[in-house]
Amino acid sequence: MPTSSSFLSPDWWRQAAVYQIYPRSFADANGDGIGDLAGITSRVPYLEQLGIDAVWLSPFYPSHLTDGGYDVDDYRDVDPRIGTLGDFDEMVGALHEAQIKIIIDIVPNHCSNHHEWFTAAVAAGPGSPERERFHFREGKGLSGELPPNSWGAAFGGPAWTRVQEPDGTMGQWYFHMFSPEQPDWNWDHLDVQNDFLETLRFWSDRGADGFRVDVAHGCAKNMDPAYDVIRDIRDITPLCLDGQHPTHDRDEIHAIYRQWRTLFNQYNPPRIGVAEAWVPPHRAALYASKEELGQAFSFELLKADFNAHQFRSIIEKNVREAAGHDSSITWVFSNHDVVRHVTRYGLTAHQDSEDGQHIDVSRLLENSPYDGHGWLLRGGSNAEVDSDSGTRRARAATLLMLALPGSAYLYQGEELGLPEVGDLPDEVRQDPAFFRDRENTIGRDGCRVPLPWTATGTSFGFGDDDGELPHLPQPAWFASYAVDTQEQTIGSHLQFYRNALALRREFQAAEELTWHGSEGDVLHFSRPGNWHCLTNFGKEAVPLPAGELLIGSAGGITDELPGEASVWMKL
Ligand code: GLC
Ligand code: CA
Repeated sequence: MPTSSSFLSPDWWRQAAVYQIYPRSFADANGDGIGDLAGITSRVPYLEQLGIDAVWLSPFYPSHLTDGGYDVDDYRDVDPRIGTLGDFDEMVGALHEAQIKIIIDIVPNHCSNHHEWFTAAVAAGPGSPERERFHFREGKGLSGELPPNSWGAAFGGPAWTRVQEPDGTMGQWYFHMFSPEQPDWNWDHLDVQNDFLETLRFWSDRGADGFRVDVAHGCAKNMDPAYDVIRDIRDITPLCLDGQHPTHDRDEIHAIYRQWRTLFNQYNPPRIGVAEAWVPPHRAALYASKEELGQAFSFELLKADFNAHQFRSIIEKNVREAAGHDSSITWVFSNHDVVRHVTRYGLTAHQDSEDGQHIDVSRLLENSPYDGHGWLLRGGSNAEVDSDSGTRRARAATLLMLALPGSAYLYQGEELGLPEVGDLPDEVRQDPAFFRDRENTIGRDGCRVPLPWTATGTSFGFGDDDGELPHLPQPAWFASYAVDTQEQTIGSHLQFYRNALALRREFQAAEELTWHGSEGDVLHFSRPGNWHCLTNFGKEAVPLPAGELLIGSAGGITDELPGEASVWMKL
């Protein structure tokens, strides 16, 4: 196959369709119940056929898996349960051969308590240079038995944990924004800065095309004791706008990413970065500037209701901010941290019709990005979900997203229309958010259940029929979402994604977007090349303009656009 010009272009990322792989749940080549890199390599033809431009691979590094691999023991190796560096090279080779780029996940805010620098810091004792790479502090109280301040961690419990000193006594406390197994790095320290540059170089040299930067807004800290006055660092709403919050979105963070950009630009094509920064759009744009990472996730559509007015104002605002910084937007509806979007929309649809009581998704997501939905807080069952409407809305929203300028991030399984598994039994759950705060959340495991590749078999083709069961159990109803069935079914979710992605590739050109008299429940915009997208957010069908229908999110569309549906047309 000749290499396409978009694969070779240094701007390949600006409008890429990027598919997120959560490696432990994608494909298990050796049948031990855990997805692996060889499994990804074996599925490259599937990815190629899906029509994506890049893969974003969640952490695959050695880890004690306290937080699904986001607790990294060693940044420059592969978890032996997932594969080897050789497997990584083979996977990259196969992806590149298929003209698919690879973005890997880098976790700079914290490591794991098994990282060698952290164990060295604990062993070296108070006042040692090793401790300066982290945030160690004396406790309060008569013998330091109280944490340095009252801050709480994102997964529940205090943000400080006390260590046992080398002499056996209980001693200092260290800071962790997430679980105690994830100590935060001290980014004022040169060793930390340099070690991350080495890691970025290590993977760039091995063929990584870019980096998704985990908790990008968290690295810089002001641990001045005066900040004790702030009630809880999780309470970020009033504070995150001015660059002065002690742990979120501080102004000096940008020096880090400017340094990274210098390194990225030493490669040809330059490596790219995309910030996971849960900050307002005008602050996200700073991370996304071309002097820094280039892109930052926009989570606003993900948080929005299925509502024309909300969608339009979010799109307008983000397009404006990105253009002002020569960046491009990254749109996303689902990832490994939130309830899958067919379920989210199905829930709001159910609530709308049951008792008229509407769930405001954005409010629920505001302070705690990982809760995903009130449904998660309670532990959901599929009976609460209007799955027909949820699927209709999800397809309509996805078709709209795929027509927007910028890049589109898709999460493994969404191309199958896979719903969230809301009712996993407690004993199989893995997410620290559940263990540390179970009164308030059931955690994120429901979107991380291994994919069904075949309608039959003990793991629905995820692993070997004679092998171990998948590390999270798949419900029986996964059979009806299996890849092999959908490949044979005209109009299936998978075929819809494949068709839409193929058309997007054909039409995607300049990043302009023009609105056409959108009104009421209908949004209508076009892109250069006579590419129109119309979405009906209402329930009632509306007449369509005369023109050529390219694709619809629902079947049987002719001269009317049904409720909860999108079309692409040439007018
Ligand atoms: C990011 C990841 C999430 C993880 C957290 C802590 O938000 O997406 O999965 O738990 O960082 O590393
Ligand atoms: Ca395996």
